[in-house]
Amino acid sequence: MIGLLDLGSLATLLPIANTALIVISGLFLLLGYAFIRRKHVRRHRRSMLTAVVFAALFLVVYVTRALLLPTRIFAGEGAMRIVYLVILGSHTILATTIVPLILLTLRRALRGDFGRHRAIARVTLPIWLYVVATGWLVYMMLYHLPG
Ligand code: HEM
Repeated sequence: MIGLLDLGSLATLLPIANTALIVISGLFLLLGYAFIRRKHVRRHRRSMLTAVVFAALFLVVYVTRALLLPTRIFAGEGAMRIVYLVILGSHTILATTIVPLILLTLRRALRGDFGRHRAIARVTLPIWLYVVATGWLVYMMLYHLPG
């Protein structure tokens, strides 16, 4: 019990949980997109709602981690550090921007305003996928880059 709760275990578990949740949300996004391209509206709806649930869980774990653990500093130097900061900066800015976009996209769909849903969804989807991909990259660079 104590082993599960100590900060050392959390420091390993929370970043993994975070990355898993964001990547799963991205997989449901791709699935949802494939469904709507084939005109499977109900499957599209289910996949996209699942993606939103995983993104919301991600947010909960992210905030928990930010509150409990110190910020981890990237170990790389030189050009690698600049690449990391560009990825992290764009990820952070877009991760904030995407929240109202997702809510608006969802609202239009749930109200049956599908024309306008489609218009904004074409902006929301690529940004969301970028946030997922860079979220995973930041995790890999922070925790799995040698050195
Ligand atoms: C935030 C979650 C969602 C995202 C990111 C999303 C994304 C998309 C995208 C990218 C398209 C355009 C596909 C294309 O270019 O052909 C689309 C179309 C569509 N979506 Fe969603 N969607 C979401 C939630 C929903 C929900 C909950 C429904 C509920 C039924 C829905 C119903 C539709 C329908 C009916 C279309 C076709 C609209 C048309 O072609 O006029 N979507 N969605």
